Amino acid sequence: MTLADLPTPCALLDEARLAHNINRMQQRLNALGVRLRPHVKTAKCIAVAQRQRAAGACGITVSTLKEAEQFFAAGFDDILYAVCIAPPKLAAARALRERGCRLVVVVDSVAAAAAITGSGHAFEVLIEIDSDGHRAGVLPESALLLDIGRTLHEGGALLRGVMTHAGASYECRTPEALQAMAEQERSRCVRAADRLRAAGLPCPVVSVGSTPTALSAVHLQGVTEVRAGVYVFQDLVMAGVGVASRDEMALSVLATVIGHQEDKGWVLVDAGWMAMSRDRGTHDHAVDWGYGAVCREDGTPLGDYLMSGANQEHGIVTRRDGVVAADLATQFPIGTRLRILPNHACATAAQFSQYEVLAIDGSVQAWPRFNGW
Ligand SMILES: Cc1ncc(COP(=O)(O)O)c(C=O)c1O
Repeated sequence: MTLADLPTPCALLDEARLAHNINRMQQRLNALGVRLRPHVKTAKCIAVAQRQRAAGACGITVSTLKEAEQFFAAGFDDILYAVCIAPPKLAAARALRERGCRLVVVVDSVAAAAAITGSGHAFEVLIEIDSDGHRAGVLPESALLLDIGRTLHEGGALLRGVMTHAGASYECRTPEALQAMAEQERSRCVRAADRLRAAGLPCPVVSVGSTPTALSAVHLQGVTEVRAGVYVFQDLVMAGVGVASRDEMALSVLATVIGHQEDKGWVLVDAGWMAMSRDRGTHDHAVDWGYGAVCREDGTPLGDYLMSGANQEHGIVTRRDGVVAADLATQFPIGTRLRILPNHACATAAQFSQYEVLAIDGSVQAWPRFNGW
């Protein structure tokens, strides 16, 4: 199988770029002296995680119990389920642990901590810390942090430590802002760990991470592990944030030109939002890429062109400057194949059941992925 044989639309994965991204993050965290626990929700693909592990990753992070099930079945047994556990999911989490999976769960409330201690199983637990006001977690200085810690520890759960995710790093646009956010993520999580320890509670694990902060941190003193996910594919959002370049974007959607509306300056392709996803993550960036950035079939960027509109199975490719080129049908004849780089690789990848992995020698191999819960 080669690129020319692939039906469109499909999720094309550039193996050399994937390898570069894996090595770049691993080497950076090795130099900073912390373990990398990649978030496998980006690719949801065993073959990708095996490459991350081969490069030196220790354990994985998941966002669903289905990911935990699938990766455990494939031989990954050190798993952090990094979404606060809903008490009805404790039975499934416990079943995984009883089968030998070292699954660690997360809480940020006394109620969830009490559900864990009341379950009759000694779960390993991290407390989620809010380091940026972005989403979940307890504040590092809060009384609640110690209440949760005591509820777990005194109730017979195995309190393992703290974790945080500075999702607000996606709003950063300069290296200075990124470094400051990485330091905020680190220092607030370490502060929470220090408070637990000062209260006589165990806290061996200090887990932080997002791709922007992981690629920007100057030092990670007090941190034991970093979680990062989207770095493995990179995307236009990460480029807009300033932590990825165009030639690091490993995932694209291969599409075929199916029509033109020459008076409007439109080239129609067979990849709409069902292929790209509805994610418009660059809408508030200095460069808004619509639904994606357009490249030639061989990956050469067509800087002037973007997917400015998307219906379910139609993508509308136009020039960024709005100029209606007279020769669109000659430039992009029917049947021309284009690669479209996505805004948010996790969302685009989720539209597909497999990756078409393009090796340096031009051969293509399918790697399955899974979706759902
Ligand atoms: C809890 C948690 N940890 C780590 C990550 C990884 O972040 P990124 O994909 O920016 O690397 C995420 C992503 O949303 C997350 O929710």
